[in-house]
Formats: sequence, C-alpha cells, structure tokens
Amino acid sequence: MTPGERRAAVMSYSVAIVGALLLQSVSSQNAGFVKSPFSETKLTGDTFELYCDVTGNPTPEIQWWYSEINRAHSFRQLWDGARKRRVSISTAYGSNGASVLGVTLLTLDDAGTYECRASNDPRRNDLHQSPATTWIRAQATITVLQKPSISTSEHTTLSKESGTYTLQCNLTSSSPPQESYWMKNGEEIPETRSPNRQTEYKLNKPRGDDAGWYMCVYTFEMSPPANATIDIRSAPDIIGHKRSENKNEGQVAVLYCKSVGYPHPAWTWHKFDDGVHREIDNTSGRFFINSRDNYTELNIMDLDIVSDPGEYHCNATNMFGSRDQMILLRVRSNLAPLWPLLGVLAEIIILVVIIVVYEKRKKPEDLQDGPVKTNSTNNHKDKNLRQRNTN
Ligand SMILES: *[C@@H]1O[C@H](CO)[C@@H](O)[C@H](O)[C@H]1NC(C)=O
Ligand SMILES: *[C@@H]1O[C@H](CO)[C@@H](O)[C@H](O)[C@H]1NC(C)=O
Ligand SMILES: *[C@@H]1O[C@H](CO)[C@@H](O)[C@H](O)[C@H]1NC(C)=O
Ligand SMILES: *[C@@H]1O[C@H](CO)[C@@H](O)[C@H](O)[C@H]1NC(C)=O
Ligand SMILES: *[C@@H]1O[C@H](CO)[C@@H](O)[C@H](O)[C@H]1NC(C)=O
Repeated sequence: MTPGERRAAVMSYSVAIVGALLLQSVSSQNAGFVKSPFSETKLTGDTFELYCDVTGNPTPEIQWWYSEINRAHSFRQLWDGARKRRVSISTAYGSNGASVLGVTLLTLDDAGTYECRASNDPRRNDLHQSPATTWIRAQATITVLQKPSISTSEHTTLSKESGTYTLQCNLTSSSPPQESYWMKNGEEIPETRSPNRQTEYKLNKPRGDDAGWYMCVYTFEMSPPANATIDIRSAPDIIGHKRSENKNEGQVAVLYCKSVGYPHPAWTWHKFDDGVHREIDNTSGRFFINSRDNYTELNIMDLDIVSDPGEYHCNATNMFGSRDQMILLRVRSNLAPLWPLLGVLAEIIILVVIIVVYEKRKKPEDLQDGPVKTNSTNNHKDKNLRQRNTN
C-alpha cells in the first residue's frame, strides 16, 4: 500500500464510522413515557396496580423501584415475587415497553413512593454512570390507611317462617362517615342513604327473591369507601317457566325456567320417559343448554316427531335445596295444517255417498204409501248420526 492508498483507506473507514453514528442517531430515539403511574390512597387488605408504558428505539428496559421516603439514595429495586409474593411485575416488550406492578393484601408498611424507570441507553447498566443521566423516571405515591372496621348482622338462610328480618351495619372505628347506603347483588338500593354510623335495612316477610348478597357501603371525605357484606341465602324457587311448547317437526323448540334464591342454582335438564327421569340423549347433537345465574334455556333443533315429544324437567339446585318444573313438548307433523281440510273433504265425500245411496233407494219406494215415510225419516236420522260421527 502506498501512503496515498493508506490515507484513502483510513478516510473511507472514518466516513463509514461517522455514517454509522449518524444513521444510529437518526433511527434511535430516547425513551419517553406514554403512560406513567398514578398516586392512590388505599385501605389495608386491598390491592393496587401501577401502569407504565414507554416508547423508544431500541425498546427501553423497564424497572420498578420503591422507597418508604422519597429520597434519591433510599430507593431499592422491586422484583416479581418480592414481599412474600405479594408483589407481581409483568412486563411486555414490543414496539413499546409496558409494565404492570401489582401489590396485594396491602399493609401499612406498603405505603411509600413507587418509581417506574426506563432506559434504552447502551450505558444504562454501567456502574460508573449516574442513573440520573441514563434513566428516565416516573413516580407515584401510595398511601395506605387502616381499613375501617364494620360489624354486621350474621349471614342468614331464609325459611318459610321468616318474619321481618333486619340487616344491620355498625361502623365501629375511623372518623365519622360522609354517608352510608345499601346495595343488593351489586346495585344500590334506592332511598337507603344516611349519614349515620349505624344503618339498617329491613326485609318484611322475605321471600325467595329477597335472597342475595347485600352490602353496606360507607363513604368518607378523605379516604376510600369501605364496605361489608351480608349474605341472605335461600333454596331456589322456580318462578317462571314455559308450561308447554307446541311446534312442528323440523322447527326449533325453546324451553326455559327462571329462578329466585341465593346462591344462584346449578341447572340441569332431563326428560321423563316411561316413568323414569333420564339424562337428555344428545347423540343427535340437537340439544343445546344455555344457563346463567337465575335462568336456563334448552333449545332443541330440527324437532323429531318420534323421539322428541314428552315431559322435560328443569332442575335448580343449590346447597339449600332443589326445585323442579315440568314443560310439555308437543311436536306435530308437517301435514297437520292439512288435516282440517282433509276432514272437510272426507265429510263431503261421505255426504255425497249417503245422498246417492238415499236417492237410489228412494226412487222405487216413492211409488208406495204409508210405511215408506217412516223409513225415510229413519234414513234422515241415520244421516245426521253419521254426520256427527265424522266431526
Ligand atoms: C356499634 O358499635 C359501637 C362501638 O363498638 C357500640 O358501642 C354500639 O353499641 C354498636 N351499636 C350497635 C347497634 O350494635
Ligand atoms: C368493597 O370493598 C372492596 C374491598 O375493599 C372493594 O374492592 C370493592 O370495590 C368495594 N365495593 C364497593 C361497591 O364499594
Ligand atoms: C349436544 O351436542 C352438540 C354437538 O355435539 C353440542 O354442541 C352441544 O353442546 C350438546 N349439548 C349438550 C346439552 O350437551
Ligand atoms: C336474574 O338476574 C339478573 C342479573 O343478575 C337480574 O337482572 C334479573 O332481574 C334476575 N331475574 C330474576 C327473575 O330474578
Ligand atoms: C334435582 O337434581 C338434584 C341433583 O342432581 C337431585 O338431588 C334432586 O333430587 C333433583 N330434584 C328434583 C325435584 O328432581
């Protein structure tokens, strides 16, 4: 290599390096937050989740850090399974980096500052670099308050003799509530709001549909709402069902039952055949059962006139009892709509035959007197009788 050639080689080499650096700075992009965690106030025993979503090229790495007090050197890194498995971290790296930090069964010690850190700087794990220059950070403060204690009346099972039953809640600790109200099966019961620590809800002569899960909720000015539940349980009762279903062969039959009672029942269907309850035979694949909570539906597709008609039973069972209802399924032939027409036709033919026979026999008799008349009225009677028989 001549010195000239060497200079040219060095030149092109440095151009290549500069080019590569330029290319890298054009296509790479520093980490940036798309979603950062929010501060929250929680009660002991509850759960919180913090979300962190970052963009950057290459995709940034995400870490979670925690400190009881918000001071730079007191942060410690969190890992999945920390704090006796109450901490969970799940992170997905795609075009973005996204991570969820969850902490369950909160104690007062879980309060503090939680930090999401993200970086795609190649020097980010170099101990000689200050993390402050290579990582971006987003913080959320979690406050944990002692859960207020609420004493309640007992869970109860309704029976036929239940008179008036009163549900009670008593807020025994914490500051006075802003308000309290009652819920049933997850929905607020209207006109139950009151400002008192003690609150009641009366069930007068409770019936099956009064069973359910009840909740008293207390709201506070400065802290999250607190609640307690009371279960009112009862055996199921079937309060609605289709009594009978009449369909033509080839059509779809829809049989259903509805229940009250709590917990919601498990539903089964069977068929009463030759004096025995049998499982529904689904070898033809035409039976579909759709049950949810207080409702069940049996659909029979492409009805068969031979095997399908009969008594179907829906059975609702929970730990306090079981109920059963019968639904009668009738399946008519597709020719059934023609039967009245065929009946009329048959009647006409019979009439015509009778008239013809009568006319034939009448002619020679017309020539005579006396007994012939009684004979003819007899014939009339006969005709009426036959007519009635055909109906
Ligand atoms: C409610 O709780 C307080 C404090 O424990 C108690 O003094 C009070 O008697 C309770 N009230 C009822 C109705 O249980
Ligand atoms: C009842 O309390 C639990 C636990 O604190 C909470 O997860 C839930 O959202 C509360 N429900 C209502 C309706 O306030
Ligand atoms: C009956 O069979 C069909 C087809 O195999 C199936 O999709 C359906 O779930 C079955 N129904 C019942 C009640 O098992
Ligand atoms: C059945 O449950 C649904 C939802 O849980 C409710 O909206 C509906 O009123 C209930 N029906 C009866 C008959 O209890
Ligand atoms: C309903 O099903 C349950 C559980 O299979 C059974 O014990 C009970 O006898 C059935 N009830 C009726 C009324 O058929």
